[in-house]
Amino acid sequence: MSNKMWGGRFSERPDEIMEDINVSIDVDRHLYAQDIAASKAHAAMLAAQGIITASDAKNIGKGLDTILSEITKGAFEFKRALEDIHMNVESRLGELIGPAAGRLHTARSRNDQVATDFRLYVRDTIDDIDAALAAYQHALASRALDHAGTVMPGFTHLQTAQPVTFGHHLLAYVEMAGRDRGRFADARKRLNESPLGAAALAGTSFPIDRHATAEALGFERPMANSLDAVSDRDFVLETLSAASICAVHLSRFAEEIVIWTSPLVGLIKLSDKFTTGSSIMPQKRNPDAAELVRAKTGRVIGALNALLIVMKGLPLAYQKDMQEDKQGAMEAFAALSLAIRAMTGMALDLVPDEARMKAAAGEGYATATDLADWLVRTLKMPFREAHHVTGRIVALASKQGVALHELPLSAMQQVEPKITADVLGVLSVESSVKSRTSFGGTAPKNVASQAKGWLKRLEKQRK
Ligand code: ARG
Repeated sequence: MSNKMWGGRFSERPDEIMEDINVSIDVDRHLYAQDIAASKAHAAMLAAQGIITASDAKNIGKGLDTILSEITKGAFEFKRALEDIHMNVESRLGELIGPAAGRLHTARSRNDQVATDFRLYVRDTIDDIDAALAAYQHALASRALDHAGTVMPGFTHLQTAQPVTFGHHLLAYVEMAGRDRGRFADARKRLNESPLGAAALAGTSFPIDRHATAEALGFERPMANSLDAVSDRDFVLETLSAASICAVHLSRFAEEIVIWTSPLVGLIKLSDKFTTGSSIMPQKRNPDAAELVRAKTGRVIGALNALLIVMKGLPLAYQKDMQEDKQGAMEAFAALSLAIRAMTGMALDLVPDEARMKAAAGEGYATATDLADWLVRTLKMPFREAHHVTGRIVALASKQGVALHELPLSAMQQVEPKITADVLGVLSVESSVKSRTSFGGTAPKNVASQAKGWLKRLEKQRK
């Protein structure tokens, strides 16, 4: 039997291979809720415009509700022979309400239908991801407040650079997640236009009301060009771009967790909840969740790349190539949302080793810049000269095998006689971080107020 949805001019059924390559139901079944919502809006509009009767529209609406509950209950049979979600729903509607079901497809096509469904799906996804990111930010900001005064080594080139506070470090990721949310919000704003009613590509001769269906589905307006409406997937690309940047951000924090939990570094510990053991080495505690977050980035960026390649060079309007837009994107969004939740869990779980952090913060002459700044401030030395003098003092300390604050004053005075005991006040890691009060700096009091500000804003957003 040929396809009963479009088989009028066909007498044979498709080859098995044809069916295998063409079928999309395993992927687009996830669009069922959006597909049904869009069909209900379409049917109601058709009736309001006098294109179908009110009683047909009512039956269609009821039938679609039945299908929705069948699918949510797992009582719906998805058929491969019906290709995709659109034809599976329409065919079942026919079984439920008879020939009136055939009127639903008036003045629309699967081309505008799938574009509408997927926009709605991506919009829902953005809302879920935004909520997950907000929870991630809240977790980080609350830990940052707890650790506003916890000193740790700050690194550049992964070399000890200057002491920072652990809270400050965590808040850096809160800022990144804030920009990620901004990018998702931008994408959401641009995607929130309705393709429905663009029909196959050229619009329709029926007196439809695209503004009404747009409004019913929560879109800002109908898309202005019917060819564009059915042939672009930039809304997926843009969301995947935002997702890729977000995944890259998460991967950086994940990598830090991997480094920090290594026994060689030992700055933090994860509990049993977020580590796994080794089947052969009983002592191991592996940060698998962090490693997997790091790796999931590949899946997200991969989906962006794949869809860019699918879209590249495609002529207008709809091409079947575009059916390949969903699987990678859906998997990428699922991976990202799991990664965000895993990072939130780890942010709440991790326990810094404060003594180790403090000791490490003082290693590697991390307060050398504080010494140079003291020379500039107190002795009015030009910074370049202060840098040189400090370098010589560091070399001296290194030769004697002591930390800067352990070096006797007399030794420093051999290098620069004008140095006084006052300098000792700036050489500890605590005084170093405390002095970094410039806007955005690492001083505990800055960090505490930034963390509180974030918590307040995030709690307000929740309401
Ligand atoms: N399954 C198709 C997709 O995901 C729906 C649109 C099919 N349109 C068509 N003209 N064959 O893109």
